Amino acid sequence: MSSSPKIVWPYYIRLIHWIIALTVILNIFILEEGDPPHRNLGYLALGLVLIRFFLGFINKRKNLFPALPLKWSDIKTHVTSHFNGSPVDYEGHTPLASVVYVLIWICLIGLAISGWMLGLDAFWGDETLEEIHGAISTGLEVLVVIHFIGIALDSYFWKRKTWMAMIKGYK
Ligand code: HEM
Ligand code: HEM
Repeated sequence: MSSSPKIVWPYYIRLIHWIIALTVILNIFILEEGDPPHRNLGYLALGLVLIRFFLGFINKRKNLFPALPLKWSDIKTHVTSHFNGSPVDYEGHTPLASVVYVLIWICLIGLAISGWMLGLDAFWGDETLEEIHGAISTGLEVLVVIHFIGIALDSYFWKRKTWMAMIKGYK
């Protein structure tokens, strides 16, 4: 008897994911740095991260932040299980993916704070702050590349369609 697969990522988590992805791509590659659209999208990303945290706290399934498997023992077991040829399955994000996502969220918060500070009279033309904002953005780019490599390796080596999880909602 076949049963329909369980939705791991509800539609609102998927929607938040794709809007955040869009704001990051537009702000890094398309929009003029520092202009109002850039700033507004940066704040939109921050707002979505905060909503995402709130939804994680009220989610009853407990597979969302703050219940991500982020303990050192989770990470160690996850990494070693790959070398044994049978990576442990998780209902939500794996420990390594969780680390990347938490760092992405921290970068988005850091970009909004440093971007906001760039608009204050006290920091007008402050090159160090501009460099900090640029460095956080570079860090975010690196994390997104790691995110893509993780999804690609998972599909290639373990034949899992993880990349579909943020489209259809189930793994
Ligand atoms: C998704 C979030 C964001 C991303 C990915 C992002 C990315 C970037 C990047 C790549 C630059 C160019 C940095 C450089 O020249 O080295 C930049 C510049 C800038 N960003 Fe953002 N940013 C974000 C959010 C914000 C927010 C929320 C604000 C303000 C409220 C802001 C204000 C600025 C300003 C004023 C500059 C120009 C700084 C300069 O003159 O070099 N950004 N941003
Ligand atoms: C700039 C672009 C992107 C950013 C910043 C980003 C960021 C994130 C974040 C923060 C999460 C955690 C979601 C949550 O728990 O709420 C996530 C999960 C995920 N993303 Fe992305 N993402 C981007 C692009 C993409 C693209 C293009 C794909 C499709 C290939 C994708 C596929 C996924 C999948 C499948 C998950 C869940 C994986 C799992 O179950 O562990 N992402 N992403």
